[in-house]
Amino acid sequence: MKKLTVDLGSRSHEIHIACGLLAQSGPKLKEIGLGPKLVIITNPVVKGLYGDALRQGLTKDGFSVAVLEVADGEEQKTLETAGWLYTELGNIYAERQTPILALGGGVIGDLAGFVAATYMRGVPLVHIPTTLLAQVDSSIGGKVAVNHGRLKNNIGVFYQPRLVISDIGTLKTLPAKEFANGLAEVIKSAVIGDREFFGFLEANLDRIKAREEKVLEEIVFRSVRIKAEVVAKDETDLSLRNILNLGHTVGHAIETVSDFRIEHGAAVAIGMLAAAGISNRLGILEQGELDRLRKLIYGAGLPTEISGRRVKEIIQAMRHDKKIKGGQLRFVLPRAIGDVFVTDEVDISLAEQVLTG
Ligand code: NAD
Ligand code: GLY
Repeated sequence: MKKLTVDLGSRSHEIHIACGLLAQSGPKLKEIGLGPKLVIITNPVVKGLYGDALRQGLTKDGFSVAVLEVADGEEQKTLETAGWLYTELGNIYAERQTPILALGGGVIGDLAGFVAATYMRGVPLVHIPTTLLAQVDSSIGGKVAVNHGRLKNNIGVFYQPRLVISDIGTLKTLPAKEFANGLAEVIKSAVIGDREFFGFLEANLDRIKAREEKVLEEIVFRSVRIKAEVVAKDETDLSLRNILNLGHTVGHAIETVSDFRIEHGAAVAIGMLAAAGISNRLGILEQGELDRLRKLIYGAGLPTEISGRRVKEIIQAMRHDKKIKGGQLRFVLPRAIGDVFVTDEVDISLAEQVLTG
């Protein structure tokens, strides 16, 4: 098993990564003093695959376990669903000491995390992420939120879990498009802060795509290590943590204009290449580095460009974002693979040139 600590003083916690960890959850929870009553929040897909076995295992280990199930999908990340969960928690007499286990992808992690942060002013939270994206990104760093109105993640808080249990075995059942979504964030991690890891991804892409356990364990571990280090230095996203948004300035605009029909990972992949293209045109990133990034993204099964007819709409969405953000649009640009910087100085017309190709 691989183990990491997110170093946050009194909110420090461990992240455990290995195949078969779901079955070891009981002893792990006991070790940090949680229980004997627990609530699992999950959805029907994940419950069918892993939730029932997890509950049985925990029951055998002496816990009293309730399962609350919300429907699958991003549309569930609302105050309304949170309200329903508060009522259900009340109905099962959940108390301030009753831990919530968030079993699922990023949607469940964000929603159950938000509920854990707010129910009775905060109950213990344990993330048990089951998508690659949730294992490398959303379960790390304490951002929990719901969507409100037309905005994503705009009602939320920072709330650190007591433990993250990442069972690599759960990634075997992930649909291909969800796996590719997670790979975009894995590639992002390497570009942000680990050149050697980028080489590892290039060298092992076939084994990654074949979902070999050992290699998945390694890529989750290395991605989490990068994010955990960043979060430890800037928990509340005031400065350094901005670098985690590599690819997201253009990516967010792509998601918006496609009405979220283009997957997040695909949008971030195109956004990362746009950022790399901008850096290259500014004379910062070498062409060879840009070519390596494009090759890896393509090899991972992610798109490398957006249809030319959408570029105008994307640029318009970015101009709109810029207005909302007080006239500044923040870009994260790679200087080289493994080294990025944040700037507010990119001219949107340069982004347009790069996206047009
Ligand atoms: P998701 O939670 O919707 O999961 C994707 C799909 O996979 C769902 O249908 C789910 O039921 C299914 N699934 C989950 N685990 C599975 C498994 N092991 N086998 C088969 N199917 C499985 O999507 P996601 O990509 O995990 O997360 C996206 C969410 O994460 C968004 O709401 C986004 O805003 C949020 N997010 C949060 C942070 C953060 O820091 N908090 C960071 C990035 C993304
Ligand atoms: N996903 C960006 C962050 O956690 O800050």
